Amino acid sequence: MTATLEGKRALITGAGGGMGQSHAVLMAERGADIVVHDIKADGAEETAEMVRGHGRDATVVVADIRDVPAFTDGIRAAGPVDVLVNNAGVGGARRTIEDITEDIYNQMFEVHVRGTFFATQTVLPGMKEKKDGKVINISSIYAMGGSQLASHYAASKAAISGFTKSWARELAPWRIKVNAVAPGFIVTGMTQGSNPPEKIAEREKLMPLGQFCKPIDISYAVAWLASAETDLVSGQVISPNSGEVIVGY
Ligand SMILES: NC(=O)c1ccc[n+]([C@@H]2O[C@H](COP(=O)([O-])OP(=O)(O)OC[C@H]3O[C@@H](n4cnc5c(N)ncnc54)[C@H](O)[C@@H]3O)[C@@H](O)[C@H]2O)c1
Repeated sequence: MTATLEGKRALITGAGGGMGQSHAVLMAERGADIVVHDIKADGAEETAEMVRGHGRDATVVVADIRDVPAFTDGIRAAGPVDVLVNNAGVGGARRTIEDITEDIYNQMFEVHVRGTFFATQTVLPGMKEKKDGKVINISSIYAMGGSQLASHYAASKAAISGFTKSWARELAPWRIKVNAVAPGFIVTGMTQGSNPPEKIAEREKLMPLGQFCKPIDISYAVAWLASAETDLVSGQVISPNSGEVIVGY
């Protein structure tokens, strides 16, 4: 039987498309109400409709995660949650160190590092009061192996491992479990924007298991970490990656 999320309420940042939308739908299917956050109002509304289609409640928060006061006011107003999925993310073109401008560098760290930090800080009072909660940070395989021509992305995702390990220890007295999911290459708007289709097809052939993971494969890991089945799992980084970790490139 699939682990239930019945009675849980989850906030997913960047849930207006891509993998965040997939996490929202799977978690709603498993019984969770969802707070859908994104910078894109239309994407967030679309996800909310999908959640409602599964008979669950959806609350939409539209905010740029880089605007800390607007973002944190928005998610605070949405009310307490049992689960936080820090998913909002940005990719962009592959760049040499010399090509990473200050704006591009800042965007990466503001969305991934600052966004993850202030989202977590904002939901903590509710979790501490309940003495229970789950924080699931979305990292990347690049945090572990590095990424040639996306060092700013890899470094920002590596920071998320630091948060994950540190918060798991700091928050254990309140039984708040903190883990990360570090996907391998997944075909979404993010990766399609920075890789031509022929390069994606070529790369897929290198996967030891013969195909890329799909968004739903990442959602299964997220939903598992959100469930009671992992109530004694904390401080871990799980990487669904089709065996990519052992491909040498
Ligand atoms: N696609 C991959 O191969 C891959 C691999 C490893 C990790 N990831 C991570 O998974 C997460 C989801 O990525 P995805 O592939 O689904 O990408 P995506 O581009 O499809 O989705 C990212 C979402 O974040 C939202 N977002 C971006 N900037 C924002 C901002 N400033 N404020 C609020 N929302 C914002 C976008 O609107 C979008 O809905 C990201 O954290 C990404 O870094 C992706």
